[in-house]
Amino acid sequence: MARELSLGVLVSGSGSNLQAIVDAIESDRLDAVIKIVISNNPNAYALERCRRHNIPISVINHCQYKSREAFDDKMISVLTDNGVELVVMAGFMRILTERLLRAFPLRVMNIHPALLPSFPGLHGQRQAFDYGVKFSGCTVHFVDEGVDTGPIIIQAVVPCCDDDTEESLQQKILKEEHRIYPQAIQYFAEGRLEVSGRKVHIKNSNQMSTPSLHNPHLEGF
Ligand code: GAR
Repeated sequence: MARELSLGVLVSGSGSNLQAIVDAIESDRLDAVIKIVISNNPNAYALERCRRHNIPISVINHCQYKSREAFDDKMISVLTDNGVELVVMAGFMRILTERLLRAFPLRVMNIHPALLPSFPGLHGQRQAFDYGVKFSGCTVHFVDEGVDTGPIIIQAVVPCCDDDTEESLQQKILKEEHRIYPQAIQYFAEGRLEVSGRKVHIKNSNQMSTPSLHNPHLEGF
């Protein structure tokens, strides 16, 4: 059996990405163990998911800390006490300080609901919908000091169609999030991610061979 990667998952809300990671572990597709889930929100539904799966929880309410640094110091101590090797942001709605990133260099991942570098920040799906793009999607990336600017590991593309609403687009994107996040973590667990500057090379990966995508489909061109 492959060695299990120790994860610390940061959540703020529903935790459907956390659930996808749990499901991938429980079905032996992801060689990892969740050592701790940290929520800054005491009422996050993600915590209920943890209780159902006997996953240890730490609620660290940011409102009770004087500064971002003090909040991150607390998270660093919980993560290191639990032997976390990879920090996974799964709908965590706080910006991390350099302090935490220095404690876990190239060992913090995030998922964003848009094709970065387009539409960073809050409500990536809504930004894309309002802009009128013909494709959107989601991105898993390593976290750096910027907002959604770190090296990109994997992206999934979904079409934005005339009959889509903001909600239907959000659902299409979320479905892909649940596929690419466990995959990205598994690449890490297998030691297949090589980062060189902004670029992430994935050893022995099966790269897309289709030359291009069009939405709408081309009519004879
Ligand atoms: C997901 O769509 C995730 O991409 C997004 O929040 C949602 C969390 O859902 N994250 C961000 O927008 C981060 N900037 P979940 O709690 O059900 O996993």
